[in-house]
Amino acid sequence: MNVSVIGAGTMGNGIAHVFAQHGHEVTLVDVDEARLDGALATIARNLDRQVKKELLTEEEREATLARITGGTDLATGVAEADLVVEAATENPKVKAEIFRRMDEAAPRGAILASNTSSISITEIAAATTRPAQVVGMHFFNPVPVMKLVEVVRGLATSDETFAAVRDLAEALGKTPVEVNDYPGFVSNRVLMPMINEAVYCVMEGVAEPEAIDTVMRLGMAHPMGPLTLADFIGLDVCLSIMEVLHRELGDSKYRPCPLLRKMVAAGRLGRKSGQGFYEYGQ
Ligand code: NAI
Repeated sequence: MNVSVIGAGTMGNGIAHVFAQHGHEVTLVDVDEARLDGALATIARNLDRQVKKELLTEEEREATLARITGGTDLATGVAEADLVVEAATENPKVKAEIFRRMDEAAPRGAILASNTSSISITEIAAATTRPAQVVGMHFFNPVPVMKLVEVVRGLATSDETFAAVRDLAEALGKTPVEVNDYPGFVSNRVLMPMINEAVYCVMEGVAEPEAIDTVMRLGMAHPMGPLTLADFIGLDVCLSIMEVLHRELGDSKYRPCPLLRKMVAAGRLGRKSGQGFYEYGQ
């Protein structure tokens, strides 16, 4: 199958990696050439790690890399696609424009999927003339490792489109879960309010961050505490997803914690900025 991946950032490189590893021809597209080069280098490095761990042979590594081509032009990049997975910047305007252009340039039969975490699939589909062929394919970071794919049905997504993407996710060794299109789907609808509540616990002095994370790790058997996880995800990303839940669902239980806002305003974004609920050596 010909798969085009739009956006070569954190998620795009992982998605390209997994499809290529499972025998698909992948075209990876990004507007930023440097991001594209970075993604190809990251994929090569992650494949090396799989070879070291004996999850992959040297030949499979080479074959996987040979199946990936990069490009900066969207129309050329999707011209032969059977499936496009969009993993570009989380911005409704950017996504609507990408889907409008993909709809023009991709073959009529192609499925257009989005990896969005928080934007409505129904709304994205409305930017195209083929809403029945638009679906959410929500992977998790790091894509080569994480088993889950939320397959999100927009209001107009057809059963054929849903089934094709579900089967494809299974063939990639993932576990697809069917989810309807509501803000945050299931993953972020449940995870982000938990993180937000953990931030309230810090703000109100219920406990120190280490203590909160220890409670959730040892008491609830979470592999990682919510504040450590928030630092990984990026506090700006957590805040913007809480804002989407709050705005779209209109329930005050989703109000972002003022401390989360304050930390983002101060540039304490977690791992990527060197400081969040914890400090990280740069
Ligand atoms: P990122 O910021 O690492 O990468 C986004 C890439 O998209 C950048 O390289 C940027 O140059 C490129 N881009 C922007 N506009 C473009 C355009 N018009 N055409 C082609 N490329 C374009 O972002 P990340 O974290 O990889 O997120 C991508 C998507 O995946 C977002 O929708 C996000 O919500 C979703 N997501 C992110 C997860 C994460 O843990 N980072 C987890 C699951 C979903």
